[in-house]
Amino acid sequence: MKAFLVVGNLKMNLLTEAEGERYLGELKKAAYGKHLSGVQGVIAPPFIHLYRFAHLPTHFHLGAQDMHWEKSGAATGSISSSMLKHAGVEYVLLGHSERRSTLGETDALVRAKVDAALRENLVPIVCLGETREERERDTTTTVIARQLEATFAGLSLLQAEKVIVAYEPRWAISTSGTGLIPSTTDIFQVKVFIRKWFTEHFDAKLAERVRVLYGGSVNSIHLGSLSWEAEMDGVLVGKESLFPRELVKMMEMAERHIQSLA
Ligand code: PGA
Repeated sequence: MKAFLVVGNLKMNLLTEAEGERYLGELKKAAYGKHLSGVQGVIAPPFIHLYRFAHLPTHFHLGAQDMHWEKSGAATGSISSSMLKHAGVEYVLLGHSERRSTLGETDALVRAKVDAALRENLVPIVCLGETREERERDTTTTVIARQLEATFAGLSLLQAEKVIVAYEPRWAISTSGTGLIPSTTDIFQVKVFIRKWFTEHFDAKLAERVRVLYGGSVNSIHLGSLSWEAEMDGVLVGKESLFPRELVKMMEMAERHIQSLA
C-alpha cells in the first residue's frame, strides 16, 4: 500500500543555525514514540540546513525545495542533484508555483529538473496547479494537462511511477492572500482528471499507482477534506509545517484515518 505522505515545505524560513536546531529539537520531541505505519513525513528545509537535518526522526525523510538540472559546473548560486544526493536528500520539490511565478520557471525547465532528479535516483515532487484567473476562465484542466504533458511525456512507465504530483491551486496557497481553499469536490474532480490523464497517456495501473498530493493552506482543521476525502495520497504543507507539533498531529490524524479503513 502507498504510504500517505505529509511533506513539509519550510520555504525561506529558519534564518539562523539556532532556529534550525530548535525546529529539529521540536520535531524530534513531537515525533518521539509515535507509531505511524501508514504515514511518511518529508521535511524540505532551506539548503543551508540540509546537513543539519540529515538525521531526522523515524518516519521522516529529507527533502529539498529545488535543484539545478546539471550535475555540476558553471551554474552560479545553484545546487545540483548530485549535491542533494550526497547530503542525504531523497525527495525534491520541483516547479513550485513560487518559483514558476517569481523566478519564471517554465514547464520545460521543470522537466529538465525532473529528468535530472530521476537520473540521480531522487524522487521528484512536481508541483502544478492553476492560477485564480485560469480557474475563473474555466481552464483548470487545460492547464493541468499542459503541465502533466510537460512533466511526463516520453518517460517510461517505471520512471513515471517514481514521480509524485502535487496539485497546488495557486490561489489556495496561504501566501496568495485570498484566504480561499478548494472544496473536497473541486480537488476530487482534479484527482479524477489526473487519473484519467494517466490512463490515457500510460495505463490504468499507473494511474492508480502515481501518488497525487494536495497542497495549499493545509492545516489540521481541513486536513481530511483537503486530502483523503478527495482521495489524495498526501499533502504538501507550507506555513503549518513550521510548527513541528502540527505536522506530527496531521500525520497522526492520517494514521488514524488509515487504521479506520483497515
Ligand atoms: P501553504 O503552502 O501550506 O502555506 O499554503 C503550500 C506550498 O506553498 O507548498
